[in-house]
Amino acid sequence: MEKIIINGGYPLSGEVKIGGAKNAVLPIMAASLIIDGLTVVRKVPNLRDTRTMAKLLEIVGAGVKLKNHKLEIDGSTVDNPVAPYELVKTMRASFYVLGPLVARFGSARVSLPGGCAWGPRPVDYHLKGLEQLGVKITLDGGNILAEAKKLMGAKIRFDYPSVGATGNIVMAAVLAKGETLIENAAKEPEIVQLCEFLNSAGGQIEGVATSTIQIQGVDELRPTSVTVIPDRIEAGTFLIAGAALGEIKLIDVEPNHLKAVIENLQLVGAKLEISENSITIKKPKKLKPIDIIINVYPGYPTDLQAQWTALMTAASGSAIITDTVYQDRFNHIPELHRMGADIKLEGNTAIIRGRPELVGAPVMSTDIRASAALILAGLMAEGRTEISRVYHIDRGYENIEAKFRKLGAKIRREK
Ligand code: EPU
Repeated sequence: MEKIIINGGYPLSGEVKIGGAKNAVLPIMAASLIIDGLTVVRKVPNLRDTRTMAKLLEIVGAGVKLKNHKLEIDGSTVDNPVAPYELVKTMRASFYVLGPLVARFGSARVSLPGGCAWGPRPVDYHLKGLEQLGVKITLDGGNILAEAKKLMGAKIRFDYPSVGATGNIVMAAVLAKGETLIENAAKEPEIVQLCEFLNSAGGQIEGVATSTIQIQGVDELRPTSVTVIPDRIEAGTFLIAGAALGEIKLIDVEPNHLKAVIENLQLVGAKLEISENSITIKKPKKLKPIDIIINVYPGYPTDLQAQWTALMTAASGSAIITDTVYQDRFNHIPELHRMGADIKLEGNTAIIRGRPELVGAPVMSTDIRASAALILAGLMAEGRTEISRVYHIDRGYENIEAKFRKLGAKIRREK
């Protein structure tokens, strides 16, 4: 099994180029299934998750070509609306194909994802929303069987602005008869890009980037192309690395998607220079502890919660971090304890007492963002850190060791 080995305690400096957003490209790939022709996607990150989604598209019958960060998907040959457990269990985002497949074929069979590393992560909003569009949902051998003669527009209100449920319902409703209104919709930039992509294919979606999305159903979508937005979570991970360890310039970023992250980094004392598509961050002399509350966009993202926790272990006092999006996404904390961190967990709140300096140790990654936090902690710690189960990191970060090595980190992968 592969491991990442880090010799920590060295400063970082230099430039890093940010790739396309994983969580933007995955729903776009699913949406290509409702386009009867060629979808061209540029700036596709080469990740385990994008390759898993490409495999799933091939299983349902699409033609897929992925080369040099450019993806071509031919949706005209799709003929098998089935997403098997073997794939869905490795990546929950596979569930995104349910809405598009039932909208196009009137029936689809998609495995239920099951639990994940940090809790149950249900899909009830997706299913309830589809039912409101007239889809009959049954559970059959662990699979969701979705059937509908024709989807009918409806008024749908989510109890919580779920990213995945908003994406799934938008992709289904775009081909439904009549108007659909989604209230309490997600406003994440990745959902905004999905809606804009569908509009470029002839969809009629309004209220994009607001809590109320209106969709006027159309009969069909036409071939189109899109360039994936920069990954705000990869960018945030490198910004946090800069605040902890030196001076880093990020290029190919969208600073507007990182406002809450930038604000908090300024509050801890980091100096930031921001231009249209680059951000330079400089580590402060003294890292101030601050309390943050994780929330949906435009709040501080849950996908940067673990990395922030690692940063606060170096703060000059106690910091509190509360995750309101997930109640139990804290698997990185016992691993950080192994490196000497002083963190107490109370419900969905972590209390971090900064400055017992981290010391390298063997640790285990449990999910994509926890792995990123362990890499940051390893770079901050004195001595050698060995991170196992690194396949998690490859799901969401392209060439992360090479990017950190270019900044001066002593990090390598061992087979
Ligand atoms: N929820 C329900 N029922 C549902 C759907 C969601 O109760 O039917 C709850 C969840 O359990 C959670 C909250 O609503 O407590 C928010 O979940 P959401 O549906 O917004 O998350 P998601 O769509 O499953 C996406 C990202 C995650 C990211 C979250 C929150 C993708 C492929 N995944 O997941 O990204 O953490 O939004 O921003 O876009 C990652 O990239 O590492 C990752 C986990």
